[in-house]
Amino acid sequence: MKHISSNDMDQMKKIFRLNLINSCTGYKSANLIATKSQNGNPNVAVFSSVTHMGSNPAMLGFITRPLSVARNTYENIKNTSYFTVNHIHEKMIEKAHQTAAKYDENISEFHKTGLTEEYLDDFHAPYVKQSEIKLGCKYLNEYEIKENNTLLVVASIEHIYFDEGIQMPDGWLRLDDAGTVAVNGLDGYSLPNLLDRFHYARPGEEVKSFFKKGNG
Ligand SMILES: Cc1cc2nc3c(=O)[nH]c(=O)nc-3n(C[C@H](O)[C@H](O)[C@H](O)COP(=O)(O)O)c2cc1C
Repeated sequence: MKHISSNDMDQMKKIFRLNLINSCTGYKSANLIATKSQNGNPNVAVFSSVTHMGSNPAMLGFITRPLSVARNTYENIKNTSYFTVNHIHEKMIEKAHQTAAKYDENISEFHKTGLTEEYLDDFHAPYVKQSEIKLGCKYLNEYEIKENNTLLVVASIEHIYFDEGIQMPDGWLRLDDAGTVAVNGLDGYSLPNLLDRFHYARPGEEVKSFFKKGNG
């Protein structure tokens, strides 16, 4: 098995290291964060750091890169408090990836990529029409990661939209039925397959499958 030490990492070329470190922690969520500036300009960008932070209250967080250059998503959230998180569907990976390009703040990635803005229930921020699962979020707080000058933005989940067919009776959303992709590194888009689902694990009890007959 290949072994790489932190000394080896220090010697690596920038892009090689970036690709290695971005992929070695596993698959990441693939989302488009959409916002609207105070001037009314919509913005949408791909983020692979959106993660669950707690279910009661419903919260999520994401990491924004250092503010050494203009970060339209972050600025819009700070100025308006609202943003949406939109799952990337297998049919929209090219358009979603293109949103990472650095467009001027007056240029909307919606117009440049062919993604469509959608406004639901008077929410300030736009949703992405082509997304199958979308969340309306409100800024709560931010925490500086001092070690690398990134920021963890924490938000409440105020609205959830999805097609009813992908929800199981116990609340769980079946993401493969929604065509939601995952990100491998910074530029690899994957479509995960559900292998199984298990009941709550308890010490001394056998793992019980939801789907396999004779096993729960
Ligand atoms: C697959 C992928 C994942 C990304 N994830 C993040 C992320 O988690 N945080 C971040 O700050 N930028 C991330 N980016 C970079 C942003 O998409 C990029 O900086 C974008 O231009 C930001 O747009 P904005 O300035 O409109 O906010 C990612 C880019 C790609 C291609």
